[in-house]
Amino acid sequence: MTFDIGPGAKAQRLHRDDKNFHVDHEDQTETGYRRGSDVMMAFMVPGVKTTFENGATTAIPGSHLWGPDRAPRTSEAVVAEMEVTDCWVMLGGLYHAGGANITESERRLLHGFFFARGFYRGEENIYLANSAEDVLSWSPDVQKIMGYELSSPNIGFVNFKTPLQHLRGEQLDEFGDFDASQEAK
Ligand SMILES: [Fe+2]
Repeated sequence: MTFDIGPGAKAQRLHRDDKNFHVDHEDQTETGYRRGSDVMMAFMVPGVKTTFENGATTAIPGSHLWGPDRAPRTSEAVVAEMEVTDCWVMLGGLYHAGGANITESERRLLHGFFFARGFYRGEENIYLANSAEDVLSWSPDVQKIMGYELSSPNIGFVNFKTPLQHLRGEQLDEFGDFDASQEAK
């Protein structure tokens, strides 16, 4: 997704991107980060130099560790100005917000890449947005990362086939375990 913010655009509220997944955030401020406690992460790559004036993203460092009772304050947020070659990496629990664009004519372009665990629905229903022809033209890595592969063992099948088998119109004589290794354990 590309965020194209023009002059006059208002700032976002501070938010956690994982709000869509109704995460029960445990307070990890004392214990330190528990690996695996997040359900998503994001990367953002600027298309132009981002500044406070053109709406650079703000965030509260360490807020991914907060429990559910601590509300974010704007005064705690810092501005992350980025050069075109920089990359923002964050966990889904980090409080952040797109800034306001107070320039006269600058557009702030930022390309975002958002990844959630395979057993959650994506925020955008891309399965309806992309044609079979388009999906089959992508590389196997892109097909996989865009969610056209099963999440092991059984999430996301269609007519007892994998999404790609379905899109290719494959006819299966019989079906077995999608991920037989799961049965062996
Ligand atoms: Fe966000």
